Amino acid sequence: MSAVSESPVLVRREGRVGILTLNRPQQLNALNDALMDALGAALLAFDADEGIGAIVITGSDKAFAAGADIAAMAGWTYTEVVRDQFITRNWETLRQVRKPVIAAVAGFALGGGCELALACDIVVAAESARFGLPEIKLAMLPGAGGTQRLPRAIGKAKAMDLCLSGRLMDAAEADRLGLVSRVVPAERLADEALGLAATVAGYSLPALMSLKACVQRAWEGSLTEGIGYERRELYARFATEDAREGMQAFLAKRPPVFQHR
Ligand code: HXC
Repeated sequence: MSAVSESPVLVRREGRVGILTLNRPQQLNALNDALMDALGAALLAFDADEGIGAIVITGSDKAFAAGADIAAMAGWTYTEVVRDQFITRNWETLRQVRKPVIAAVAGFALGGGCELALACDIVVAAESARFGLPEIKLAMLPGAGGTQRLPRAIGKAKAMDLCLSGRLMDAAEADRLGLVSRVVPAERLADEALGLAATVAGYSLPALMSLKACVQRAWEGSLTEGIGYERRELYARFATEDAREGMQAFLAKRPPVFQHR
């Protein structure tokens, strides 16, 4: 899925799937402002595009992303990062995306790269994938959501181990701990991620967005609040043409034809 171009994020589509390829291969896709601005803009464009039902973010064979760009950060001061709202300004655009986002990870997913994958809805990993939050080695910290999302994903003990030691974990361990959804041989990563995305994107878009929002509630809030939210979203399905079509198609033993409304 990689290609060579000047743009830090390559944008393409396959059917109803939008594909974003991080493209700073010489720097192992280190995440600088230009890349995060481009990624955010492309995500919002796909989110607004009625022809897109799911989004895949991927990198190169060697690196999904080796973290925030250390060369860029090295000279920054406290005053500058507060003023410029580092992270908040352009990294959190991903949180605004209501369509399912799949990370397809090969090679290094470190620091901000790991945090980017953690912020996606599904992570498909190649056997070559290596995950870690090694910021402690720089006397920094995983400040793009890592200290919050990693414990939620894999539990406090393992998260503390990874954050405090700065060690990397391989795809098998990430799979065992529940950080990733699937692990496949590297040569199958693109097919697996795009096939999954195509399946997802074939479903009713309003139902997908509703479902994603419900699961996000489980991730972020209390059970009582989440159950209440889920119930309202369930009731709302009955107001959609797609749910009527889905159930009628099942009863008629034919494939559904969703209009995404
Ligand atoms: C800037 C980076 C980079 C990074 C790699 N490069 N990671 N540049 N920022 N995060 C550059 C290298 O400087 C080098 O450039 C080129 O990419 C290839 O990297 P090598 O180190 O030569 O490759 P290799 O020996 O294979 O080692 C791969 C690696 C190592 C293990 C991934 O590059 C590494 O440890 N990178 C840093 C990982 C890290 O600390 N990430 C967390 C960053 S802080 P040249 O010009 O020499 O070819 C972070 C904070 C986020 O993410 C939270 C909010 C702040």
